[in-house]
Amino acid sequence: MSLFHRLESRLQEDGERYAQKGKRFEGLWRNHLNTSRDLILQGLAKAQSGRAVILGASDGKELPLQALVERLDAVCLVDIDEASMHRARNALPETLRPRCELQVVDLTQGCIRTLLDQAEPVLAVEKGGDVAQALVEVLDSISAEFQPQPWLERWRGSYVVSSMVLSQLLPLPERVLSKACEARLGSTLNDLSHGPLTKARQALALRLLNQHMALLRFLAGSSAVYLGSDVRRELVMNALRPAQAQVLGERCAKALMALDWTRALEQRAPGPLGGGPFTAWATALVGRGVLAPQEERELMDLMVNLAQELEPEVARPLLPCALPELVAEGFSVLDGPHQWRWYLDPVNYFRGGVHGVEAWLLKPVQDQ
Ligand SMILES: C[S@@+](CC[C@H](N)C(=O)[O-])C[C@H]1O[C@@H](n2cnc3c(N)ncnc32)[C@H](O)[C@@H]1O
Repeated sequence: MSLFHRLESRLQEDGERYAQKGKRFEGLWRNHLNTSRDLILQGLAKAQSGRAVILGASDGKELPLQALVERLDAVCLVDIDEASMHRARNALPETLRPRCELQVVDLTQGCIRTLLDQAEPVLAVEKGGDVAQALVEVLDSISAEFQPQPWLERWRGSYVVSSMVLSQLLPLPERVLSKACEARLGSTLNDLSHGPLTKARQALALRLLNQHMALLRFLAGSSAVYLGSDVRRELVMNALRPAQAQVLGERCAKALMALDWTRALEQRAPGPLGGGPFTAWATALVGRGVLAPQEERELMDLMVNLAQELEPEVARPLLPCALPELVAEGFSVLDGPHQWRWYLDPVNYFRGGVHGVEAWLLKPVQDQ
């Protein structure tokens, strides 16, 4: 099986995991889901279109899908993960389903397949330091220019919703190259730490972002765009030094006691209050029904805020520049950015489970 097909099946597995997480962390996700749905409906009021296209639709948790299909003539869900989109459509009342179409599409327009096709022979022959330089050349050769494709024509002038897909599109080059390196060389891309390689990866992520923005402009025409993105990730624990993790654990223990969450504290294994193990224990409480959803949110906010105070670097964006600068190009902002936190996978938040979300309502600036 080719590495690309493995990537597609991984994205489908991610879709299933995403659905399970949504159930497990329902209380913590509620604010994120409701805020996204409300903003998408507000955008529809400004869109003046009878159709909508949803990019990165997945199983539609963040979408007010039924309301969109009820109010519009047609809605097109777009994703590489077909199974999740079927789940979204099947959740609609049967009479509405014919107005909801599915498009299984790679939104990088084949860039990821090209990247893998070109990286595979390099990884098969090159060794050591040469690999990094050869991969830089491969990355630089992928222009990622937006190309109008036949399926897009029918949907021009739609209300366009880009629903949390950028945070998967932009790290794809890094993710696929890491996998390819692991499979061929037994090492991950991080082992190939090489300044020019990091630069080339980031430059391709920026080209993919521009490609996506060009797609949004092309599809929306004179209609509106909702852009929801969580590229401003908040990677917490793995960016803390051991001494900082110790302080975080101690402060978090104090805060828990001050809040008198005795039910939670009673479940704690004996041991000192503080340090990394305490933080890990406190995080593991989330999603187990020990604390009420509101308390879980308070606990997570507390830990993320404390971690950010201790180490501003815990909030790591995926891009080398801020998204607002890029959004400004070619669009006027109707509303936003709205910002909130999404506790996507709070139990694994030390690996990036807490995301900073930004959302805009935009309108393409028409070329003179
Ligand atoms: C975080 S999920 C989106 C959540 C969704 N909007 C919702 O309402 O629940 C990101 C989606 O992007 C899709 N995706 C990632 N890379 C893609 C690509 N190259 N082409 C198309 N879809 C892609 C994934 O399959 C996934 O369903």
